[in-house]
Amino acid sequence: MIRLSGTEVAKHRQEALKARIESFAKKTGRKPGLAVVIVGEDPASQVYVRNKVKTTVALGMESFHFEVPASISQAELVRKVAELNRDPRVDGILVQLPLPKGMNAEEVVESISPNKDPDGLTSGNLGLLMAGRKRVAPCTPWGVMAILEHYKIDIAGKHAVVVGRSNFVGKPMAQLLLEANATVTVCHSKTRDLKSVTRQGDIVVVAAGQARFLGRDAFREGAVVVDVGMHRPSSGDFANKLCGDVRFEEMEGWAHAATPVPGGVGPMTIQMLMENTVRLAELSPS
Ligand code: GUN
Repeated sequence: MIRLSGTEVAKHRQEALKARIESFAKKTGRKPGLAVVIVGEDPASQVYVRNKVKTTVALGMESFHFEVPASISQAELVRKVAELNRDPRVDGILVQLPLPKGMNAEEVVESISPNKDPDGLTSGNLGLLMAGRKRVAPCTPWGVMAILEHYKIDIAGKHAVVVGRSNFVGKPMAQLLLEANATVTVCHSKTRDLKSVTRQGDIVVVAAGQARFLGRDAFREGAVVVDVGMHRPSSGDFANKLCGDVRFEEMEGWAHAATPVPGGVGPMTIQMLMENTVRLAELSPS
């Protein structure tokens, strides 16, 4: 079985990205800039944000980091985003999700200019993706496409099954696979006899949000299995360990290829965030 290592793919793509960043800086006299806004003190979000800031700086980009208290009003947060929309040093604005309870995440995301949306989550960018004219695609499904490309997994004509239908992953994933000429089926929590559908997939992308949910009996022999799940269960065999939606150890000797957790899709999300930011910088007028 081929172990699809997102860690390796990200490392490989970093070199090309660094060269793009240098050439942008030479041409414009400034570095591509990513602004990250974190609201409140969720410890998991703080770890993610720290990693994003570190990677931004390591690649030679400008990092703008804003920590605002959970007590900020919705209107104030939207005003902060508007200020960053106007700042010519900022090419990408990321408001770390989830937001504290009571805030309207959709309104905050929509306040980001689609020209400065490296998450690709504004309706403007999701709309362009659906129309086949994408500016940037959401980082996680875009990272899955980069893994499949790196390992030369053929997509055209294949039956791709996506488990999950979120705006973050499932919906854009289905669209990207369709664009790559797969025949696409989307499953979700209301799908009847889920495993009978996933077993038909040549390529199965699992973003179900349930720890160690699917095993060998959910896939046909020789399938390519991509696991977007990321869990740290508080009890059971995997207590306090990172695991995905798929029982990875059951893929050995069965799947053609599969992504582990950790080290699979996770490291690609941050890489694609950086690539999207550089792309937005390259598209910006300044
Ligand atoms: N929270 C966890 N992952 C992400 C991400 O990729 N983008 C944003 N904005 N929030 C997140």
